[in-house]
Amino acid sequence: MSALLQVHQLDKHFGGLHVLKHFNMTLHPGEIVGILGPNGAGKTTLFNLLTGFIPADAGEVLLHGKSIRHMKANAIVGLGVARTFQLCRPFVGLTVLENVLVGSLGPRVKHHDLGERAMHLLSQVGLADKAQQPSELLSYGDLRRLEIARALATEPELLLLDEPFAGLGSSEIEALSALIRQLHQQQALTILLIEHKLREFMQLVSRVVAIDFGEIIAQGSPTDIVNHPRVIEAYIGKQNPLDMDPHA
Ligand SMILES: Nc1ncnc2c1ncn2[C@@H]1O[C@H](COP(=O)(O)OP(=O)(O)O)[C@@H](O)[C@H]1O
Ligand SMILES: [Mg+2]
Repeated sequence: MSALLQVHQLDKHFGGLHVLKHFNMTLHPGEIVGILGPNGAGKTTLFNLLTGFIPADAGEVLLHGKSIRHMKANAIVGLGVARTFQLCRPFVGLTVLENVLVGSLGPRVKHHDLGERAMHLLSQVGLADKAQQPSELLSYGDLRRLEIARALATEPELLLLDEPFAGLGSSEIEALSALIRQLHQQQALTILLIEHKLREFMQLVSRVVAIDFGEIIAQGSPTDIVNHPRVIEAYIGKQNPLDMDPHA
């Protein structure tokens, strides 16, 4: 199967800080892959580079074999790569529905009735009854759902989720995890997921890339990764990283 995304020797410095070091990764269509790593490992920076939010210093990012490395964020969205943010960023002053409609303005969206489609997306993520509310009134869990609906509105082929469970309680995490699984299965979406909530994360992904200090320290199945000595060491020498939550 040909690769959806190929990252080759991707490199990023912030001043003297070498944040991503010659990073390599391949993602195949339909995969759901996890990026694991302690705070400051370079995970969000990787997403920022892949989505054109910041420029890389060196290396290559190929989407279906074509370089997107020098493209701006909106051009990359137009090619089918959408993301959510670690800190939710709704368009304040717009309703929940309007937030999703903004996502529908891209070139990939061919639907003739954008309002109907936005409502469909809101019901898919469980927010249909809140469509007319100002987005700033949503709970944190609902904001996460809104972010996902807004990303889906751009008709992505690849969805990047940056810590979707951050700040949520355990029942909200379970529900959101079920939603992500459902989206992956029903929409043939390829998903790259950054997470710290290890228990849910490990149940969701089929493959994990573990990074620390901007480098891959291990990759493999979730079971291989939680038992990998370098991963355990990166999580401050805990016996079993599944039992710890770095945000706790
Ligand atoms: N825009 C920036 N300017 C300077 N340093 C940054 C910037 N963004 C991230 N960093 C630094 O890069 C490192 C990796 O950050 P980040 O990618 O956000 O880590 P993670 O998402 O894995 O927690 C951290 O040391 C962070 O402080
Ligand atoms: Mg981050």
